[in-house]
Amino acid sequence: MNAPVLDLPLTRAERLKQETHAQHERLDTGIAGRDPFATRERYAAFVEVQYRFYAAIEPLYRDERLQALVPGLASRSRLAAARLDLADLGRPVPEVEPLPISHREGLGWLYVSEGSTLGAAFLLKAVEAIGLGEDCGARHLAAAPEGRGRHWRDFKEALNSVPLTPAEDDLAVSGARAAFTYVHGLVAEVMGPGK
Ligand code: HEM
Repeated sequence: MNAPVLDLPLTRAERLKQETHAQHERLDTGIAGRDPFATRERYAAFVEVQYRFYAAIEPLYRDERLQALVPGLASRSRLAAARLDLADLGRPVPEVEPLPISHREGLGWLYVSEGSTLGAAFLLKAVEAIGLGEDCGARHLAAAPEGRGRHWRDFKEALNSVPLTPAEDDLAVSGARAAFTYVHGLVAEVMGPGK
């Protein structure tokens, strides 16, 4: 006899993953299609995308209400590291207007930003091939001191524990979708046409 299939409800993090899976695929393919590791110039354009994203959402990392929900939130920001990476690469630091993101949608935007540290492990390996690394040009891709897995699990635990109404949960999903759309737009704008 087959074991019964348990129909457990998705956690908030699982739902966010499911609802944005296709967008992640498109983004990943869009970035890869622009050969970000072919030259330092191409990679610098990718870092500018990352910098613009982090700068646009930095107010979330400084928001006291969100800090109360996610322990150590301020220290998770990778904006300063991305700024140093741009300097390492000799690329000017752009002026970025922070986005007006609501508190509830902010959780979805943070999910996208924090989740991007997982893919960063692969990107870091690729960037080493062009002579860069976590001490120069790829500081923002470095793992957290406690390890990428632990860092991500801690975030997911905090995210899953926030008490939200179903309507607020939907807002988190729209925030995550908007974040992927935003980064996709940055890729097209800063990295140029893809293949
Ligand atoms: C070429 C670029 C990228 C590659 C190759 C890539 C690859 C990956 C991989 C392999 C994972 C899963 C890792 C694991 O489960 O252990 C992942 C997760 C994730 N990535 Fe990316 N990624 C890229 C760019 C991005 C960008 C630019 C963002 C957002 C700004 C992003 C957001 C996320 C999110 C939110 C997750 C977590 C999904 C979840 O488990 O809930 N990724 N990425």
